[in-house]
Amino acid sequence: MADKKATLHIEGQAPIELPILTGTEGPDVIDVRKLGASGYFTFDPGFLATASCESQITYIDGGKGILLHRGYPIDQLANNADYLEVCYILIYGEAPTRTEYEKFKKIVSNHTMVHEQISSFFHGFRRDAHPMAVMCGVVGALAAFYHDALDINNEKHREITAFRLLSKMPTLASMCYKYSMGQPFIYPRNDLDYAGNFLHMMFANPCEEYVVNPVVSRAMDKIFTLHADHEQNASTSTVRLAGSSGANPFACIAAGIASLWGPAHGGANEACLKMLEEIGSVDKIEEYVAKAKDKDDPFRLMGFGHRVYKNHDPRATVMRQACHDVLQELNIEDPLLDVAMELERIALSDPYFIEKKLYPNVDFYSGIILKAIGIPVSMFTVIFAISRTIGWIAHWNEMHDDPSNRIGRPRQLYTGQHQRDFKPLHERE
Ligand code: SDX
Repeated sequence: MADKKATLHIEGQAPIELPILTGTEGPDVIDVRKLGASGYFTFDPGFLATASCESQITYIDGGKGILLHRGYPIDQLANNADYLEVCYILIYGEAPTRTEYEKFKKIVSNHTMVHEQISSFFHGFRRDAHPMAVMCGVVGALAAFYHDALDINNEKHREITAFRLLSKMPTLASMCYKYSMGQPFIYPRNDLDYAGNFLHMMFANPCEEYVVNPVVSRAMDKIFTLHADHEQNASTSTVRLAGSSGANPFACIAAGIASLWGPAHGGANEACLKMLEEIGSVDKIEEYVAKAKDKDDPFRLMGFGHRVYKNHDPRATVMRQACHDVLQELNIEDPLLDVAMELERIALSDPYFIEKKLYPNVDFYSGIILKAIGIPVSMFTVIFAISRTIGWIAHWNEMHDDPSNRIGRPRQLYTGQHQRDFKPLHERE
């Protein structure tokens, strides 16, 4: 992979030759691993121009609005596969045969229940705790329940842990919601598919049967697929960094949940809906667009912009259609959708947003669908965490399978004090 070279000329030093590596898609990379010997570090806060690893899971071309999972375009997966099929593809690299897929689904179903003791774990939280705070705690605590499979060097342990996480995230998420409502937890059902089971655990209650609406369930499944993985985003990079120290998978996924919670990342769908509610009506959009453009105003249009997509987010395109399908099926005239559509129209025609290449991202429409389904805003990022768990697991496994994997330990540009002598307190008085 390294037949091209970059030559670095540093004054007073011999030229440094750095290999250039070429992948199957996307930009070549300059391999700077040898640079440390020169006495220099690279400097790239926010990793705007840094490839942190080699990966074969997901490819994004931000300029062309391309997103591939193991080579398959996201729109083809979202429209022709279901979430568990995409999970299989992300983990194993190939689409399953019918037999492999049925076996995979059965294993997932058989791990959806959580240890009864976890129910009492929930009762340590306040009922009004943010569900992402609860998820950080409860998912991390799974390591306290599954001592039998925490050896990260054991292939079987890693596989059973992947199934436990994939299967139990919807159960734990619905428990967060039920706990906040003061309603009893609803057990998972093996006769329902992944999305339908989640909706049932969210909205069923002991007093009456909850019938899953197939259009709503399909939209929920698409939301899971569209958020499943996204290369080296902040939360996935967090999972990889935590995992590089050898931390157990439950602790690493809990770290990913914590990172996803931020409003600049997975918290954007919750922030986006709150923003649409704050704007409230179409006639106030211009005022908020002006705020977003004002350098002195920290306000940003949540659901717009992306570190990588400088064209359109292909997930938003699929999400937009799913949004209309759900609102039509449920016969909902949501004024927030009117605000969202007008905001999209104005933003996409405004020179500021065109120049900054700010387009609606995956979070822009998901919030409207989730609100239409009846999921509270505080649960939006929890839905994102359910979906992204498979991406985190796939990257965590890929890292451990990589023979060049080492503990992640970046350096820094130090601009603090020069060395100085310390005076004990009695000499400083
Ligand atoms: C996700 O990485 C991933 O893949 C993430 C994700 C995934 O699937 O894992 O895709 C999920 O996190 C989607 C992004 C959700 N976040 C939001 O919708 C929050 C709003 N967006 C912004 O905070 C911002 O666009 C980011 C964080 C998404 C991207 O930030 P960057 O790449 O660091 O870009 P930037 O902040 O440097 O902005 C570039 C310019 C700036 O202006 P200048 O300083 O150059 O003059 O664009 C402006 C910003 O002020 N800008 C915005 C804006 N986003 C960027 N101005 C108004 N509204 C916005 N939303």
